[in-house]
Amino acid sequence: MPNRNLKKMNGKNILIIGAGGQIGTVLHDKLTELYGSEKVYATDIKAQPERNIIGLDVLDAEGLDNMIETNKIQVIFHLAAILSAKGEQNPKRAWEINMGGLFNVLELAVKHAIEKVFYPSTIAVFGDHIPLTNTPNHVPLVPATVYGISKVAGELWAEYYYNRHGLDVRSIRYPGVIGYQSLPGGGTTDYAVDIFHSEAKNEEYTCFLSEDAALPMIYMDDCIKATIDIMNAPKESITCRTSYNVSGMSFSPIEIATEIQKRNPDFRVKYIPDFRQQIASSWPQSIDDSLARKDWGWTPSFNLSQLVDIMMQNVRKIYSKTEY
Ligand code: SER
Repeated sequence: MPNRNLKKMNGKNILIIGAGGQIGTVLHDKLTELYGSEKVYATDIKAQPERNIIGLDVLDAEGLDNMIETNKIQVIFHLAAILSAKGEQNPKRAWEINMGGLFNVLELAVKHAIEKVFYPSTIAVFGDHIPLTNTPNHVPLVPATVYGISKVAGELWAEYYYNRHGLDVRSIRYPGVIGYQSLPGGGTTDYAVDIFHSEAKNEEYTCFLSEDAALPMIYMDDCIKATIDIMNAPKESITCRTSYNVSGMSFSPIEIATEIQKRNPDFRVKYIPDFRQQIASSWPQSIDDSLARKDWGWTPSFNLSQLVDIMMQNVRKIYSKTEY
């Protein structure tokens, strides 16, 4: 059956900002596959000419203005950000990039009458005073990290621009994203990707979270599907203009390690929690994504066992290790 939704961005000129990052890399490939390389423009702080990614700092408003104007951009995916763990190393810089980048995008989107903007939020918006399991969409947001604070502010600015300027900004709170195509950088959930690289290299993995630190997670394909689906949803179905909880699964380090050990009994993990454990402790263990399911039909396709199969097979290929 043809997917009606795939048509919605057809023919539009799309810009991905942060196309060299963990999610941007895979989103860039998927949007190019769906809509054609001539319709998809990509920027990142680091140029990658071989992947058609132009070097552009999201804080360079004039450069971004030219990019949008020259290429008659109609849809923007703004993915550039400093994540939770890296943000704590230099909070002021994280604030400048996360907020300055967003303001540039929102202002230029209004100026150029951009049709739709995607702005990712995160489980890092959550903090004290909430149930930590099955956390609802609408709860007090009291984050403990500068990343979380910037994303709460960003969610509110997204809603403000929608109310004030009619700018169609759509947002998802990403859980930890796990994929083999790219590496995460500077997040608290990065362990769930790193662990597969250690397994493939026949190394013991040292986990920086406690073995029981359960967090909401999602497989990359589901993350990309959610991102494209919300952007293709009819405008009237988007009832939440801050951000939607979206979840794929939920697990702790020992649960994923056990799943890997079922396939490789020799694999070893030790736990030496560092400052990132404190960040993880402030986040939900699982989130309720029923609003996304109701409004735009969100439903994940991958569970933990499937994720481990796909990750082990594909990360092993990177290191030319034989499949199990
Ligand atoms: N993966 C992010 C982080 O760990 C959460 O959205 O910072």
